[in-house]
Amino acid sequence: MAIRPTEWEGVYTDGPWLLTRNLVPGTSVYGEGRSVEGGVEYRRWDANRSKLAAYLRCGGRVWPFREAASVLYLGAGSGTTVSHLSDVCSHGTIAAVEISRRSFRDLLKLAEGRPNVLPILDDAAKPEGYGSRVGPVSVLYQDVAQRDQEEIFQKNFEWLRPGGVGYLMIKARSEDVAARPSSIYEDARRKIEGADIKVLDLRVLAPYQTDHAALVVQKE
Ligand SMILES: C[S@@+](CC[C@H](N)C(=O)[O-])C[C@H]1O[C@@H](n2cnc3c(N)ncnc32)[C@H](O)[C@@H]1O
Repeated sequence: MAIRPTEWEGVYTDGPWLLTRNLVPGTSVYGEGRSVEGGVEYRRWDANRSKLAAYLRCGGRVWPFREAASVLYLGAGSGTTVSHLSDVCSHGTIAAVEISRRSFRDLLKLAEGRPNVLPILDDAAKPEGYGSRVGPVSVLYQDVAQRDQEEIFQKNFEWLRPGGVGYLMIKARSEDVAARPSSIYEDARRKIEGADIKVLDLRVLAPYQTDHAALVVQKE
């Protein structure tokens, strides 16, 4: 099937797959398939590997990732999702914070070919270490899978510009293995929602990401 744009800027589809336009043609990041059409190379974006792709597959509509967006990404891992944001925000910046040295090595390698990725080895619970280096951003994205995930998100909120959008990928099993995931998601919403923080979406990411939900908010 022909490759065509989707309603989400910078995201394409060939029917079965979501795709992003490869910023570094000829290379894959995590073994994903690639296809070329009209001289342009695209990478498959796997919803089982990336919570942001799962968000789209599950009907998510909030999409602030413009070509020139600035993103503060907490819990970058080896860069699976970061790499697709690097494709989408090709003229922007993705400041990718990761605490594990092992994963950070992969991030460094990713950033070699992608000038819009800025890898930062640091603890997202201590934004005072990197916040001023990154500056105010248009999107805050967090996927740390930690018990104190809401507190970490709140600490970093000051670096989001007014009008900016924040994504908190909530892992239910990080909070309380006995509690129902749906009550954990609602708890997270209650903790985050506030006078200057409006909830735009709360979306369960099954079947692509079990026991995960995306909380999407806007800073007023
Ligand atoms: C689920 S993985 C991230 C996957 C990645 N977001 C993706 O979609 O490609 C969670 C990552 O958060 C990192 N992490 C956990 N606590 C952190 C913290 N306090 N600061 C920064 N990174 C953290 C872990 O080392 C791990 O790599």
